[in-house]
Amino acid sequence: MRITKTVLNRQEIAERVAALGRQITADYQGRKLVLLGVLNGAFIFLADLARAIDLEVEIDFIRAASYGNGTASSGAVVLRNEPDIDLAGKDILIVEDIVDSGLTIAWLREHFLRTHQPASVKVCALLDKHERRSVAVQVDYVGFTLASGFLVGYGLDYAQKWRNLPEICEAAS
Ligand code: IMP
Ligand code: MG
Repeated sequence: MRITKTVLNRQEIAERVAALGRQITADYQGRKLVLLGVLNGAFIFLADLARAIDLEVEIDFIRAASYGNGTASSGAVVLRNEPDIDLAGKDILIVEDIVDSGLTIAWLREHFLRTHQPASVKVCALLDKHERRSVAVQVDYVGFTLASGFLVGYGLDYAQKWRNLPEICEAAS
């Protein structure tokens, strides 16, 4: 794999994340919001998004894996840890880097609705990629919608590399 082009630059990302933060701030006034970041991919997005939200939020992370080192979803989601904070009665916002097939988010949404008695479960994804969607899934807050491509940077990886690129780039073999 090599980087072929920049798809979203720093300024485009920063402006969109700020707008998402304002929208989430308005929507969750007076609520008990928990940001639940999906590691590893969401670590940079969540760091920026959290600082764009002007509310007293709680933040925790989960590790979910549906990938090996390839570029396509295996379909099976494995949750490696449950959040440490008590989610009962709270509004969960699952923060993901990218929704591709939709399998990960569909599974997580269902899991947290079923097992933690939250007040609500919503999803915020930086990227919503339609090309390989295999299950219909609701993404409540979307940074950017993309038709296709394999993206790296700003938290997204290929085989654990390129997460630290400050821009979102397309990679191809
Ligand atoms: P899904 O279950 O197919 O929706 O896959 C979601 C996960 O696959 C994301 O959280 C990413 O970790 C990974 N993924 C999907 N597409 C890409 C991509 O273009 N670049 C990097 N990771 C991706
Ligand atoms: Mg991920």
